[in-house]
Amino acid sequence: MRLRVFLCAIALSFVGLAGAAEPDVSTLTLPCIACHGMDGAASLPGSANLGGQNQRYLLRQLELIKSGARTVPLMTGQLNHLGREQLAQLAAHFAALPLATGQAEEATLAQGESIYRAGIAAKGVAACIACHAPSGGGNSPAGYPHISGQPVDYVVAQLTAYREGERTTDDDYGGMMRDVAANLNDGEIKAVANYLRGLH
Ligand code: HEC
Ligand code: HEC
Repeated sequence: MRLRVFLCAIALSFVGLAGAAEPDVSTLTLPCIACHGMDGAASLPGSANLGGQNQRYLLRQLELIKSGARTVPLMTGQLNHLGREQLAQLAAHFAALPLATGQAEEATLAQGESIYRAGIAAKGVAACIACHAPSGGGNSPAGYPHISGQPVDYVVAQLTAYREGERTTDDDYGGMMRDVAANLNDGEIKAVANYLRGLH
């Protein structure tokens, strides 16, 4: 019994040493799994898919969430102890996981597709396709996020938060999404979110 405890202590101290030298990415991702899934697909209502997301975008959002510029109450304190290097490791890890996809519902699909592809000219709503690409894959070099396949509730919450000025957008992007969302009503937001869920 004593010997076993002793051996465990040695094993743990090795894990500790290895951790101090170069933190294993699986140690870093352990707390994320509960809400973002083992494979990077949202596993909690309101959470986002991280798998396959553009790396530059992920790193930027992690920095904004850590600093509190983007408020994510459920992630309070989760990133405080992590430096830039570790945030970059997390971004690279999730970017390399496969994309999650979903199924859209038929009812508002045509309306959602029309907003995505053509915008709403009469209200000055820009076409999403211009920045997020035909498949919803975004624009990696520019750091525009991949938005297809995301859970409907997550996209609805983000578009509403942009519209209400509650989601702080990255300064580099000059509030692009706030302009886009400013004139979308709740029904239009739901329709485009439903379309995005099934787009791939
Ligand atoms: C208790 C649940 C919870 C935990 C644990 C958690 N998150 Fe989150 N995370 C969320 C929720 C909910 C959102 C969506 C917030 C919103 O609506 O803006 C989110 C959003 C994000 C986003 C922004 C996604 C996007 O597309 O803009 C990133 C990046 C992220 N989390 C990374 C992580 C990482 C990395 C960890 C682990 C270190 C982690 N999260 C742990 C709940 C959690
Ligand atoms: C002019 C370029 C541009 C257009 C047009 C545009 N977007 Fe975006 N979108 C961005 C950028 C840049 C971001 C991320 C940065 C930020 O938060 O400011 C973003 C972020 C998003 C997000 C949040 C992604 C996440 O993971 O949290 C959603 C959802 C989104 N856009 C949906 C749309 C929809 C729907 C439309 C069309 C109605 C649209 N966008 C039109 C550039 C654009």
